[in-house]
Amino acid sequence: MTLILGIETSCDETAAAVVEDGRVVRSQVVATQVALHAAYGGVYPELASRAQLETIAPVCRAALAEAGCQLADLDAIAVTQGPGLVGSLLVGLQFAKGLALGSGRPLRAVNHLEGHLHSLWLADEQNGREPPPFPLLALIVSGGHSELVWMSDHGCYETVGRTRDDAAGEAYDKVARLLGLPYPGGPPLERAAREGVATAYDFPRAWLGESLDFSFSGLKTAVRRAVTEPAADARQLKLRAGTNVADVAASFQAALLEVLTVKTAQAAEQLGAAAVGLVGGVSANQALREQLRATVKQPLYAPPAKWSTDNGAMIAAAAHFQHLRGEPPADAGLDARPMWPLAAESEARG
Ligand code: KG4
Ligand code: ZN
Repeated sequence: MTLILGIETSCDETAAAVVEDGRVVRSQVVATQVALHAAYGGVYPELASRAQLETIAPVCRAALAEAGCQLADLDAIAVTQGPGLVGSLLVGLQFAKGLALGSGRPLRAVNHLEGHLHSLWLADEQNGREPPPFPLLALIVSGGHSELVWMSDHGCYETVGRTRDDAAGEAYDKVARLLGLPYPGGPPLERAAREGVATAYDFPRAWLGESLDFSFSGLKTAVRRAVTEPAADARQLKLRAGTNVADVAASFQAALLEVLTVKTAQAAEQLGAAAVGLVGGVSANQALREQLRATVKQPLYAPPAKWSTDNGAMIAAAAHFQHLRGEPPADAGLDARPMWPLAAESEARG
C-alpha cells in the first residue's frame, strides 16, 4: 500500500490531496483564485503565485487532516514540476521540497500532463469505475493544452497530435470574454450554448489535412470578426448590437467540438486503441463528453468534473505509478520546468 500527498500549483489553483495506491482519494483540497483573476479575464501570473504562497501551507495541512494522516505516514510527497507558470510552480516545488526534507519522506516530481492522464485512475465512494485498459488514446484538453497522447502503459507516452496555436480551453476563455461572459469562460459558454442554434453561424473547422494536430486561433478570429464592431484597439472590442450570444456560443462550440471529436476518433481507429480517455479542464464539458462518446468506437473514460480540472489527487496517482516502476525519487536540487513536454512527438505526425 502507498499513501502519497500530491501538490499541484502549476496555474491558478493551490491543490493538495492524499491518495492511496494511486487510486483511492482519501482527501482533496483545492483553493481556487477565480475572483482574483476575473477582472483581467485570464490568469495574472504574479497575483497567482502570491496567492499560492499564502494558501499552500493551509491547503496541505487540510489535505493531511482530512485524510487522517501525518507526514510520517506518507510514502512520498509528489509535486508538479511543470509545465506551467514558473512562479506558481516554484511555490509548490519549494514547499514540497521543504516537507520532504523535514520529514525524511521521498520527493516525487510529476509532469502536469502525466497527472491529468492519471485522473482516469482515481476513485472514491461515489466514483468506483474500473480504470481504462491499455493501449489508451487520451485527449488532454485544458486551458494550456490540447494534445492527443498515446499511452501504452504508465510512464509510456507518445504525443500524436497537439494544438499548433491556442489550447481548447483558451479558445473558450477568449470567446467567452468577447461575449461578455465571466472568466473562466468554459462553463458559462457551455451553458449559453445550450440555449442557442448551432447552425446560426458557419465558423471554420481547421482540419489541417491528414494531421492529428489542432488549430483554434482561426476559429477565435472568425468569431471576433463575426460578432464585434471593427476597433483600432483590441481591448476596446464591442459586441455588435443585436448579437445573439447563445447562437454564437452554440456555433463556436459546435465547430470546436467537431474537430476535437472527429480527430480523436480518427486517431483511436488508426492506432488501434483499446479505450479512449478524456481529461483536463475542458473535459468537464457535457456536450464534449456526449459527442465523443457517440463518435468513438472504443469505450470512453472521463473523470468526474472534480478530477478533470487541476487537482492534487492526479499528481499523487501519477507518482504512485512512478514508485511502482522503480523510478528513483527526485533530489532536493530539483528546479521548475515551465516548458516540459510530456513525451517525444510521434514521427507519424504530419
Ligand atoms: O485543466 P484546467 O483546470 O487547467 C489547466 O491546466 O489549464 O483547465 C482549465 C480550463 C479553462 O480554460 C476553462 O475555461 C476550461 O478548462 N473549462 C471548460 C469547462 N470547464 C472548464 N471548457 C469548456 N466547457 C466547460 N464546461
Ligand atoms: Zn491542468
